[in-house]
Amino acid sequence: MPLDVATIRQDFPIFRRTVRDGKKLIYLDSGATSQKPEAVIQAEGDFYRLHNAAVHRGAHQLAEEATDAYEGARSKVANFIGAQAEEIVFTKSATESINLIAYAMSNAPTGSRFALTSKDRIVVTEMEHHANLIPWQQLASRSGAKLSWFEVLPDGRLDLNSINSVISADTKVVAITHQSNVLGTVNPLEAIVARAREVGAVVVLDACQSVPHMPIDVKKLGVDFLVFSGHKALGPTGIGVLWSNQLDDLPPFLFGGSMIENVTMESATWAPAPKRFEAGVPNMAQAVGLGAALDYLNAIGMENVFEHEMQLTKYFLEELQKVPTLKIVGPLDLENRGSCISFTVGEIHPHDLGQYLDSQGIAVRTGHHCAWPLTRKLGVPATTRASLYLYNQESECDLLVKAIVDAQRYFA
Ligand code: ALA
Repeated sequence: MPLDVATIRQDFPIFRRTVRDGKKLIYLDSGATSQKPEAVIQAEGDFYRLHNAAVHRGAHQLAEEATDAYEGARSKVANFIGAQAEEIVFTKSATESINLIAYAMSNAPTGSRFALTSKDRIVVTEMEHHANLIPWQQLASRSGAKLSWFEVLPDGRLDLNSINSVISADTKVVAITHQSNVLGTVNPLEAIVARAREVGAVVVLDACQSVPHMPIDVKKLGVDFLVFSGHKALGPTGIGVLWSNQLDDLPPFLFGGSMIENVTMESATWAPAPKRFEAGVPNMAQAVGLGAALDYLNAIGMENVFEHEMQLTKYFLEELQKVPTLKIVGPLDLENRGSCISFTVGEIHPHDLGQYLDSQGIAVRTGHHCAWPLTRKLGVPATTRASLYLYNQESECDLLVKAIVDAQRYFA
């Protein structure tokens, strides 16, 4: 069903403001963070206004209400991705979720399938966000394991020709992004998961750029771990998600209150998952806000969000390529592609272009997008990125294209 974007935009208070001397806000930076509907702002505020108490601890009504709201949010997250509530850990960000997995693996006892040694290998890709690269570099350095990667081809797709040698018999972990935050490429999980299964490797999926934009069912993906951040899915900042159906086999990473089963002066034992991964008072209001965000997305329908973004991406790709000096960095067609669109324009440095676009009220991201090895590989110092969401529309593409054409004259 086509989205009623005009009505949707009314739900987002930020679109009522102007920027740069009264210009209409053209927000094309949802890959960095999405804007928030009133329902999310209200849910987070109402938690503090009406229910604030430390979850899982107090013996009073507010603590009960807060716990119900927090655990209710966990169930909403689980339903959103086809999982069970006890498979969902709340973290502060997707970055923390990935670090949690890598540090928990460091804490795994020798012989456990999660424990790495110098005989093992971790596989990533050249298109990973730093958040899904550096934690694995660090785990490799702590454990002595080797780090290998899939290369990226000039068209922005992974080179899977060498899949059997990249994911070799000694591979223990394959950590891969579902959708590149730079190129928009959606990676061919089926082949990668199948090969990982052959060698018994664990698959960690960075779903930051997919969960907010397309229907996701973890049961169909076949991965072992999936992470995403709340703030890219209309939710608040400060709340991330880690999903796995093997959490009970993994030791904790952060230690402290509420993650224990029993404590003596000498030692402690751990609560079952997910509690063992949520030491300390968690980001409760933010989890509740995320629950409201997922309610909002469900009411619209993720199929409809996906269809809308695909149509819009098609329009953006076609219109942007009418600018003769503009080069798309990433797949040119819609096949296995999402709505992050990176490009360069002639000799204009992306930072200059970003500044010019900002002067016209257009918000984009410029730089290496926290994927420095990728931009290096593609031979560009940086790119300009337009990233889309359910509240964007074709008229914003027209304004972007016009501003790029004007920028060329301005910098000529
Ligand atoms: N990871 C976010 C982006 O790609 C911040 O912009």
